[in-house]
Amino acid sequence: MIFRNQVSLTKKTNSISKDELIKNYGLNSYEFTQKNKEEIFVCSKHKELDLIELDQLLQTVGWSRRPIRRVKRALDFSILVVGLWLHDEDFPRLVGFARCTGDGILEATVWDVAVNPVYQGKGLGKELMKYILKELKNIGIYKVTLFADAEVVSFYKRQGWILEPRGSKCAFWYAN
Ligand SMILES: CC(C)(COP(=O)(O)OP(=O)(O)OC[C@H]1O[C@@H](n2cnc3c(N)ncnc32)[C@H](O)[C@@H]1OP(=O)(O)O)[C@@H](O)C(=O)NCCC(=O)NCCS
Repeated sequence: MIFRNQVSLTKKTNSISKDELIKNYGLNSYEFTQKNKEEIFVCSKHKELDLIELDQLLQTVGWSRRPIRRVKRALDFSILVVGLWLHDEDFPRLVGFARCTGDGILEATVWDVAVNPVYQGKGLGKELMKYILKELKNIGIYKVTLFADAEVVSFYKRQGWILEPRGSKCAFWYAN
């Protein structure tokens, strides 16, 4: 499990106005672009998610579907829910997602980190994680954990996450 305390965000090179950003994505949203690209992406913890669109996004990364009603409850009980949007004035498109659970004071756990495969490999996942950690830090949470699938461990390691030695600290219990 993981400790993390350094947060820095990539400088933006292309932008939408601050007013427009707040109007469309809410306070504390974070806008960024990729080098030499016209597309603008925005991480937002306030913009309301369409649960069908979220379901479709999570299907694109091959995850098994979960009942929408249960997903809604899970989001309601999460302490941080972040959408990563491909900006469009009229139809912003959800291309990434992550959420955190926790006590809201001391600790948090990151879940459901996903970027639409069409947009993978372009730095979006990294920006999404930076945003998550910055927002957690803003509310005073410095100890963050997550459970990574084996094939994405190095995605997190590259960003400074520390792997706990196998079998030394983690415990799992499954009801079935
Ligand atoms: C994992 C995931 C979120 C990464 O998003 P992404 O936008 O493709 O990642 P980025 O482009 O920001 O990559 C950041 C860095 O991680 C590396 N990376 C990206 N995906 C990786 C992977 N699956 N395995 C190892 N390294 C990876 C990139 O090469 C890049 O390295 P660099 O900083 O040296 O250039 C995305 O691949 C995804 O949604 N996968 C399916 C869902 C999933 O497995 N989620 C994680 C659940 S634990």
